[in-house]
Amino acid sequence: MKTIFSGIQPSGTITLGNYIGALKQFVELQEEYNCYFCIVDQHAITVPQDPLQLRKNIRSLAALYLAVGLDPERATLFIQSEVPAHAQAGWMMQCISYIGELERMTQFKDKSAGKDAVSAALLTYPPLMVADILLYSADLVPVGEDQKQHLELARDLAERFNKKYREIFTIPDVRIPEVGARIMSLQEPTKKMSKSDPNTKSFISILDEPKLIEKKIKSAVTDSDGVVKFDKDNKPGVSNLLTIYSILGGKPIPEIEKEYEGKGYGEFKAELAQVVINALKPIQDRYHDLMESSELDDILDRGAEKANKAASKMLKKMENAMGLGRKRR
Ligand code: AQP
Repeated sequence: MKTIFSGIQPSGTITLGNYIGALKQFVELQEEYNCYFCIVDQHAITVPQDPLQLRKNIRSLAALYLAVGLDPERATLFIQSEVPAHAQAGWMMQCISYIGELERMTQFKDKSAGKDAVSAALLTYPPLMVADILLYSADLVPVGEDQKQHLELARDLAERFNKKYREIFTIPDVRIPEVGARIMSLQEPTKKMSKSDPNTKSFISILDEPKLIEKKIKSAVTDSDGVVKFDKDNKPGVSNLLTIYSILGGKPIPEIEKEYEGKGYGEFKAELAQVVINALKPIQDRYHDLMESSELDDILDRGAEKANKAASKMLKKMENAMGLGRKRR
């Protein structure tokens, strides 16, 4: 059976972008693959986080993993910092990375742009992500489009290590959804939707209340021609809303375009809000039940145990290949 690894940062409450680009794929894939889904808290601290809020976000993300339909009997769900091999292997991956290739990462450029003080880890976190993936010999990594470049680095570093030391790593493939790989900001539709965007009107969080969803969609930036038509280059706002409608409403985009022929954005947006509210309602209900139960800790304990077992085996292989420590009999 092939293996899948992916993770999400607990850097806020996940958005429709994270759900459509990543989580929805996770749920579909758990049937056919040996899956490891991680809450990558060590990635989240590459930018400042409030410790109390971070703890809350970790727990909340764990509950959301389950609420969207991940089954802990099929998939291993765990927290990155509870598996020390990630940081150890991440260091080794940093040692075979070049500063130049890390500086070329667009996410580093975006997140450091205009800031005076940027943590060193913001530059070096892609090698940690590479370690996350390689530790489990993942064949496939389901992510949104923004992570494609990091996945290319994972392939490069795996090949570099295999060639320089010993052939121990599987070269991972990326899996990006055909539709919805890049859900855009509701306020700046040429920029991707992000959970840490300071403008909360720019994203729909998976836990937003119905009234707030209606408000955010109503104020979503569109254009002035009033035609509900998909045209990414000239109508990025409307195209983004159509993508969300199509995925969550389960209808092809041309069918939706036809339905709204001759109708204005007001009606389209009001009905899209209902589609989003209906799609999120069962997730939100399950989430609130889970947050009140004690199930979460047991699941995360079991996940950490399983992940530690797999990761420490690979870590040992890496140390042996690089000549770290002593040879064990
Ligand atoms: N807008 C998006 N559309 C589709 N997929 C997306 N993903 C993120 N944004 C979109 C995918 O969600 C997964 C988890 O992402 P992450 O939390 O590890 O980091 P990120 O890509 O940096 O996501 P955010 O929401 O933008 O987080 P912050 O604001 O903290 O940086 C990944 O598979 C990602 O591709």
